[in-house]
Amino acid sequence: MPCPSRSDELVFFVNGRKVIERNVDPEVTLLSFLRKNLRLTGTKYACGRGGCGACTVMVSKRDPTSREIRHFSVTACLVPICSLYGAAVTTVEGVGSIKTRLHPVQERIAKSHGTQCGFCTPGMVMSMYTLLRNYPQPSEEQLLEALGGNLCRCTGYRPILASGQTFCLESNGCQQKGTGKCCLDLGENDSSSLGRKSDICTELFVKEEFQPLDPTQELIFPPELLRLAENPEKRTLTFHGERVTWISPGTFKDLLELKAKHPEAPLILGNTSLGATMRSKGHFHPILLSPARIPELNVVSKTNDGLTIGAGCSLAQVKDILAERVSELPEEKTQTYRALLKHLKSLASQQIRHMASLGGHIISRHSYSDLNPILAVGNATLNLTSEEGTRQIPLSEHFLAGLASGDLKPEEILESVYIPHSQKWEFMSAFRQAQCQQNALPDVNAGMRVLFKEGTDIIEDLGITYGGVGAATVSAHESCQQLLGRHWDELMLDEACRRLLDEVSLPGWAPGGRVEFKRTLVVSFFFKFYLQVLQELKKLIKPFPVPNSRRYPEISDRFLSALEDFPGTVPQGVQRYQSVDSRQPLQDPVGRPVMHLSGLKHATGEAEFCDDIPVVDKELCMALVTSTRAHAKILSIDLSEALELPGVVDVITAKDIPGTNGTKDDKLLAVDEVLCVGQIICAVVAETDVQAKRAIEKIKITYEELEPIIFTIEDAIKHNSFLCPEKKLEQGNIKEAFEKVDQIVEGEVHVGGQEHFYMETQRVLVIPKTEDKELNIYVSTQDPAHVQKTVSSTLNIPINRITCHVKRVGGGFGGKIGRPAVFGAIAALGALKTGHPIRLVLDREDDMLITGGRHPLFGKYKVGFMNNGRIKALDIECFINGGCTLDDSELVTEFLILKLENAYKIRNLRFRGRACLTNLPSNTAFRGFGFPQGTLVTESCITAVAAKCGLPPEKIREKNMYRTVDKTIYKQAFNPESLIRCWNECLDTSSFHNRRMQVEEFNKKNYWKKRGIAVIPMKFSVGFASTSYHQAAALVHIYTDGSVLVTHGGNELGQGIHTKMLQVASRELKIPMSYLHICETSTATVPNTIATAASIGADINGRAVQNACQILLKRLEPIIKKNPEGTWEEWIEAAFEQRISLSATGYFRGYKAFMDWEKGEGDPFPYYVYGAACSEVEIDCLTGAYKKIRTDIVMDACCSLNPAIDIGQIEGAFIQGMGLYTTEELKYSPEGVLYSRGPDEYKIPTISDVPEEFNVSLLPSSQTPLTIYSSKGLGESGMFLGSSVFFAITDAVAAARKERDIAEDFTVKSPATPEWVRMACADRFTEMIPRDDPKTFKPWSITVA
Ligand SMILES: Cc1cc2nc3c(=O)[nH]c(=O)nc-3n(C[C@H](O)[C@H](O)[C@H](O)COP(=O)(O)OP(=O)(O)OC[C@H]3O[C@@H](n4cnc5c(N)ncnc54)[C@H](O)[C@@H]3O)c2cc1C
Ligand code: FES
Ligand code: FES
Repeated sequence: MPCPSRSDELVFFVNGRKVIERNVDPEVTLLSFLRKNLRLTGTKYACGRGGCGACTVMVSKRDPTSREIRHFSVTACLVPICSLYGAAVTTVEGVGSIKTRLHPVQERIAKSHGTQCGFCTPGMVMSMYTLLRNYPQPSEEQLLEALGGNLCRCTGYRPILASGQTFCLESNGCQQKGTGKCCLDLGENDSSSLGRKSDICTELFVKEEFQPLDPTQELIFPPELLRLAENPEKRTLTFHGERVTWISPGTFKDLLELKAKHPEAPLILGNTSLGATMRSKGHFHPILLSPARIPELNVVSKTNDGLTIGAGCSLAQVKDILAERVSELPEEKTQTYRALLKHLKSLASQQIRHMASLGGHIISRHSYSDLNPILAVGNATLNLTSEEGTRQIPLSEHFLAGLASGDLKPEEILESVYIPHSQKWEFMSAFRQAQCQQNALPDVNAGMRVLFKEGTDIIEDLGITYGGVGAATVSAHESCQQLLGRHWDELMLDEACRRLLDEVSLPGWAPGGRVEFKRTLVVSFFFKFYLQVLQELKKLIKPFPVPNSRRYPEISDRFLSALEDFPGTVPQGVQRYQSVDSRQPLQDPVGRPVMHLSGLKHATGEAEFCDDIPVVDKELCMALVTSTRAHAKILSIDLSEALELPGVVDVITAKDIPGTNGTKDDKLLAVDEVLCVGQIICAVVAETDVQAKRAIEKIKITYEELEPIIFTIEDAIKHNSFLCPEKKLEQGNIKEAFEKVDQIVEGEVHVGGQEHFYMETQRVLVIPKTEDKELNIYVSTQDPAHVQKTVSSTLNIPINRITCHVKRVGGGFGGKIGRPAVFGAIAALGALKTGHPIRLVLDREDDMLITGGRHPLFGKYKVGFMNNGRIKALDIECFINGGCTLDDSELVTEFLILKLENAYKIRNLRFRGRACLTNLPSNTAFRGFGFPQGTLVTESCITAVAAKCGLPPEKIREKNMYRTVDKTIYKQAFNPESLIRCWNECLDTSSFHNRRMQVEEFNKKNYWKKRGIAVIPMKFSVGFASTSYHQAAALVHIYTDGSVLVTHGGNELGQGIHTKMLQVASRELKIPMSYLHICETSTATVPNTIATAASIGADINGRAVQNACQILLKRLEPIIKKNPEGTWEEWIEAAFEQRISLSATGYFRGYKAFMDWEKGEGDPFPYYVYGAACSEVEIDCLTGAYKKIRTDIVMDACCSLNPAIDIGQIEGAFIQGMGLYTTEELKYSPEGVLYSRGPDEYKIPTISDVPEEFNVSLLPSSQTPLTIYSSKGLGESGMFLGSSVFFAITDAVAAARKERDIAEDFTVKSPATPEWVRMACADRFTEMIPRDDPKTFKPWSITVA
C-alpha cells in the first residue's frame, strides 16, 4: 500500500487560469474535474472510452527537445488529472463565448448549420480549434483527419466539414466546379425542372459575413509554465488518492528505482489502454508510475541503418517522425516506415494518437494492434532498461505472445524502439480491414515482408504476422520457413495460402466472431501482397535482366485493381433549394435558411443540457442494477454489502413503489422474475456517481433459470411467441394473380436492429420540493407529459404536482419517447424515499444495454411478375423482434404494414406482420418507425425481379411506380405527382443513365473492384395513425417591453423546432425574430402534450403557435388601426393600458386520422413526403471494403419553413440510414448479452463515411394544403434513402457474382458490412477456407433478425 504521506500540489492551467490541487485523486479524469470541480460543462460525456470525441479539449505543453509549444487535442474522459502537471488545458469555454467574443470556429460551425442537437459541437469546435492553432490554414485532408474522431449523430457531418473548409487554403467547394460536370457549371440549356437559376439557391450561409481568423488573438501559453518547462522540477511528485497513488519521477534514474521498488506498478502514459482495462476488466493498480517528465523516453535518433524512437513518443509524433524519414531516405529503405505510416493514418482517432504512446501501444500487445505486426516483420528491437542495466530483445512472436523468454522483466521498462531500414529486394506491406475505414478497430490486420535473393524472385526471408485472429498478434513463422527458397509465383501463392490457413487457425467459436471472414482475410491479404510484390519485382527486374525473368507472371490489367486502397477523400457537394419570393418582406424569416436558435450557444458550450444543471443542494446520484440473466426467477437480492460502502445512502427496489410498478407485463423494477439481460432490478443512491457505481458491483442477486429462453425471430416463430395479433392488409386476389404470372420468385430478407446512439445518453434530475409533494423534473425526453404521467402513477401523486422541464435534448431519434419515463420514475422514487434531489446519468454501456432500439426484422416475400417486369402479385410476411415487452411493437408492426408498398402500385397484394416476444430488451420507436426495415424487403423484392427479368432494377421500379392520382393499399387517395418529379429529377441531376453505363464499363475492366449504382424512390407517410395525436397547443405571452415569450408542446431535439416556431411567430406577429424567445418546454405551460415524433412536430405545433399569434394580433388590430405608424412597443404599451390580454393559448385540432384494420381501410396519414436518392459505390471484393462515390437526393419538402434545417434533417437522416444499412451491427452472446455497448464495437458513420460527393435538392414549386405555410415534416423520411447505398453495394456484389458465375439471387442481409460483402463475393479464397459444422461449437454471437 502507498504510504499515506502528504500529496504534492498538482499545478496546471485551464483556460489561462492557474489550477492548484492540493488533494488530487489520481482516479479522477480531466472530464470529471472540468465538469464537477470547475463547473466547465461545455465539455461533454458521451462514451467515456475515447471513442466519440464529445469530450475533446486542447492540451498544450512545451516540447523539451524542440522547445516549441505543442498543442494537441485529447479526449478528456481518458486523461488522468495527474498527467496534466505543467500543462495548459483549453476547453470550449476558453475559446470564446457569446457573452464576450466568439471565436471564428464557433461562429462558422453555427452559421454553417453544423449544429443540430449541439451535443457533439463543443468537441467538434475543439478538434477544429486545435488544428487551427497548429495550422491556421490547414489542408482539407488535415481537417478531415482532425475531425475523424468526433462523432455526430444528427448532422451527417457535411455542414460541419463545410464550416471547417472555410479556413482551408484550397477550399473551392465542389471539386467538379469548372470541369463542366458540376451542376453549377450547367448552362442555360439545363432542362431539369430545378431549372431557372434565379429562384434556386445553393448557398446556405454567407461566407463573407464571417470574421477572419486572427491567430494573434489566441490565449498564450502561460509564462509560468514556460519557466517551469525551462527549469524542470527534478523531484519526484506524488499524489495520494483514496485508493491510488500516482508517482511521477523527475529523472530517469528515479524512474528505474521506483520501477524496481514497485515492479507490479504499471507505467501510465496515454492511459488509452490502461484506462480501458481498469474500467472494463476491473483491473486495479494501487500505484501508477508516470514517466511523463522523463525526456529520455522521448529521444529520437537516426542512424545509417535505422531509426530509434523513444517509447514515450505519442503515436502522432511517431507519425511525423516517420513521415520525415520517408521524405529523407530513398524509397527502398523506407518500406517499414511507409507500412507503419499507412496504419497510423487509420489507427484510432487523432485525439487517441495524440495521447497514446509508442511504448504503451507495444507493451499493451492488443491482438488488434495495428503496429505490432509491422514492427515484428520489420525486425524491430526493443531497448529495455532497468537498474540492472540495458538489454535488447526482438519484437518477436515470443514477445507478442507474452512468453517469459521474450518478455520484459517486471522491473524493466521499454526505453525506445529500434526500427531498421529496409533494403533493396525487400518488400513490406501492411493490411487492415475494419467495419469502417476510419476510427474503427481492425477485424484483421497484417504485416508482410519478403526479401529476395538479389536479382531473383527466390525468397530468402519471409515474415507474416496477423492481428485480430487470436489472443495476441500471431506470426505465421512455420509457413514462412517452408516457403524459403521458393519462387514468387502462383504455385507458391497456392501453397502459402494453404499453409497460412493451417497455421493461423481460428476456432469457430473465437471471441469477436466473424470467423469465416477473418479466415478469408488471412489469405486475401496475402494475395494482395503477392500481387503488390509481383508489380514491384517487375519494376526492379527491368534494369536487372536476370535469366529466370520469365518466371514473373503477367498481372492482367483487370487484376491490378486489387492493389489500390480506398484513399480518404474530402466530401464535396451542393445543396439546392428554392429561394423565397422576392416580394416577401425582409423581416419575414419563413422559408429562409435561418441558423438554429441555439447554434452559437452549442458552439461555445453555453447551451445547457440536462446534466449541465449545477449540482443542487443535498443532491444524490443514482446507478441502476440490471439483470445478468435473460429469463430467470429472482431468488434473492442481497443488498447488505452495498449498503455498507462509504457514501451509499439507499437502494431502491420495487417494494418502495407506493403507486403502480409499470404494467403487468412491463415493470419499472423487476419483481420475482427477469425477462432479459439489462432489465432494471433496483437502483443505488449514493453521494457520488462513483460510489453508486461501485456499490452496484456489490449487490448479490441469485437467479433460477426459467424456460423458454428466446432471442431470435426464428425461435419465437417456433415457440409461437408473439406480443400481439397479426396485422394484415390485402387487396385484389393474390392467389389468382400468382396463377397468371410469367415468373414467381421467393426470397428472404434479414434486417438487423439499430441503436439510437443519441450523443447525450438518458439522463434526469429530480428535485423534490418540501411542500405538497411537488416535484420538478429536468429530463432529456421527447415526451415530458409521459414522464409526468408515469411519475404520477408510480408515486401515486396527482399529475398537477409534477412539472417536467425540457430545455433541449442531445438527440432522441425515437429513443427518448418511452424510456425517459422509466428513468424519471425510478429517480423520482429515489427522491421520494430519500427526500433528496436525485441525478441519474446513464453510462453509454448501460444506455445501450437497457434501452433497446430499432426492431430487427425478418421478411419473406413471394412475388409474381411478367417477363417485362410488371409485378402482378406480391405477398410479404414480416416478423419483427419486439424484445420482452410490448412497448411500441404493435404500432411499429402496423406502420410497417401500412408503409410496405412504398412507391408501387401493385394490384394484388398481401402484407402480414407480427411482433415477436423474445428475451431481449424491449425494442422501441426509432426514426422511420418500421418503414426503413420493412421497405427494404419491398425494394429487395424489386431487385430480385430485375435479376430474373434481366433488366436493371430502376426499370422495374419505374414500371411499377404509382403514376396518377390513386389509392393506397389501405384506400387512402393521394397524388403521386411529386413522387414522379423527384424520381425524374434524381435520375436527371445524378446523370444516372450515363453513370450506369460507366459503372458497367468499370466492372468489365476490373475484376477485384466492382462498382454499383442504385436509385430508390420513396413515398413516406408522416404522422401518427391516431386522431388524438394530431393536436397541439402553444402559449404566447407578450410582455410590456414588447418582447414575446413563446411556448409550445414540441421539444427541441436538435431538429430545430424552436427555430421554426419563432419563424412562424415572427411572420404572424410581423416582428423580427429578435423580439421572440423560447425558454423551454414545460408541462406547466403547455399540458397534455404528445411526443415530439412522427415528423409532425413542426406541423402541429406551428399551427398552434400561429393560432396563438393570430389571436393576439386580432386583439391588437384596433390599436394598430388607430396608430398605423406606431411601433410594436407603442402598440403593446397601449394594449396594456387598455386592459387587453397580452397572453394567448393557441390550439390546433389536427388531422382526423383513422384506420380500420378489420376492413383494411382508412385515412391514417395527413400527407406523404416523396423523395428519391441515387448512390454509387465501389467495393473491394478481396476485403469487403467499400467507398461511397456519390449520392444525389431529391426531396419534396414543399415550401420549406427553413431550408437549412430541412436539408440538415435530410442529410442527417440519410447518413443515419446509411449506418443502419451498412455498418451498425448489434452483436448478442448466445446468452442474450449485448456485446456492442460503445463506439468501439458499434460503428455509427464517421465523417469519413460521408459520400465523396453528396448533393441534396429540395423539389421546387411543390404545394400541400394541409400544413403550415405548405411545408412538410422531414424528420424521418431521409432515413430510408440511406438504402440507396445498400442497394448500390448489392448491385456491385451482384456484378462480382455474375462475373464469377455464382447465382445472383443471394439472401439479402442488412447491414451490408464488409464481412457480408467479402463473403458474398465468393472466390477461390472463400472456397479455400475451412468451414465449421455449426452443430459442433457454440458461436460467439447469435443473429436475432
Ligand atoms: C478509442 C480507442 C481506439 C483505438 N483504436 C486503435 C486502433 O484502431 N488500432 C490499434 O492498434 N490500437 C487502437 N487503440 C489502442 C491504442 O493504440 C493503445 O491503447 C495505445 O497505443 C496504448 O498507449 P498508451 O500510451 O495509452 O498506454 P497506457 O494505457 O498508458 O499503458 C498501457 C500499458 O503499457 C505499459 N507501458 C507503457 N509504456 C511503457 C514503457 N515505456 N515501458 C514499459 N511498459 C510500458 C503500461 O504499464 C501499461 O500496462 C485504440 C484505443 C482507444 C482508446
Ligand atoms: S466521452 Fe470522451 S471520447 Fe466519448
Ligand atoms: S449535432 Fe452532432 S450529435 Fe447532435
